[in-house]
Amino acid sequence: MLSDAQLREYHDDGFVVVPEVLTSRDLARIRDEVERLYGADHPGRVLEKDGRTIRGVHGCHQTSELFSRLVRLPDLLESAEQLLASKVYVHQSKVNAKRALRGDVWPWHQDYIFWEREDGMPAPLVTNVALLLDDATPYNGPLLFVPGSHRMGTLSTERRRAAGGEESWKSNLAADLDYALTAEQLAALVARLGMRAATGAAGSMVLFDPRLVHGSGTNMSPYDRQLLIITYNSVDNVPQQVPSRRPEFLSASDTTPLAPLTGGLRP
Ligand code: SIN
Ligand code: MN
Repeated sequence: MLSDAQLREYHDDGFVVVPEVLTSRDLARIRDEVERLYGADHPGRVLEKDGRTIRGVHGCHQTSELFSRLVRLPDLLESAEQLLASKVYVHQSKVNAKRALRGDVWPWHQDYIFWEREDGMPAPLVTNVALLLDDATPYNGPLLFVPGSHRMGTLSTERRRAAGGEESWKSNLAADLDYALTAEQLAALVARLGMRAATGAAGSMVLFDPRLVHGSGTNMSPYDRQLLIITYNSVDNVPQQVPSRRPEFLSASDTTPLAPLTGGLRP
């Protein structure tokens, strides 16, 4: 469970880094499973612009037995329940590979606008639990945050492309987002609030608010920066009907409340 100080940090800054959440054994198992998912043909598997480097895989909790258990690990699940003060389910799960020397950027954005506009989610009663699968350093494209920006509401209101069609959701998995902040919006925010990098050792957990402004740069290092992001939504905040639903691996229809795992990741 999160301490009062950690809860305060999440509410004040919009994020908190919790070290040493995964054991080295579980971390090794997860990394092996991620390698398997990178090699498996699935529409939720995305490549970088070069057409050969893996960028990420989506819907891991739906395609992998290990991940379906991982999202129920008490340290993760109960932190999300605590932050949202309710039972939760997984709206989305993904691993961003950010490969050594090839991993591309994530432009500055807020997550909630995608889930509200594209998926019909009624309120920002949702949180991200990210797990560092590699050490995140200043050199390998760590998550960057504008602390406190989650209290500014929705900032990027204009959709860059017309809605609808398959290409529309696909582009949001690449380094080309429909709701990115403009340089002017970012400059004004950072002048007031500054910027922080979520660096830390592999096995750490980073919890962040769905409205927090974030992004990440290229990976200039010779080491991968793999990041697993599990988006837990409150069972009181189930998405409403939308005209063209995104695929299951981006907007899960199974909203059954999750029960904590007993007996570890793989007994
Ligand atoms: C994201 O915003 O979903 C991904 C950011 C990252 O992996 O750096
Ligand atoms: Mn994001």
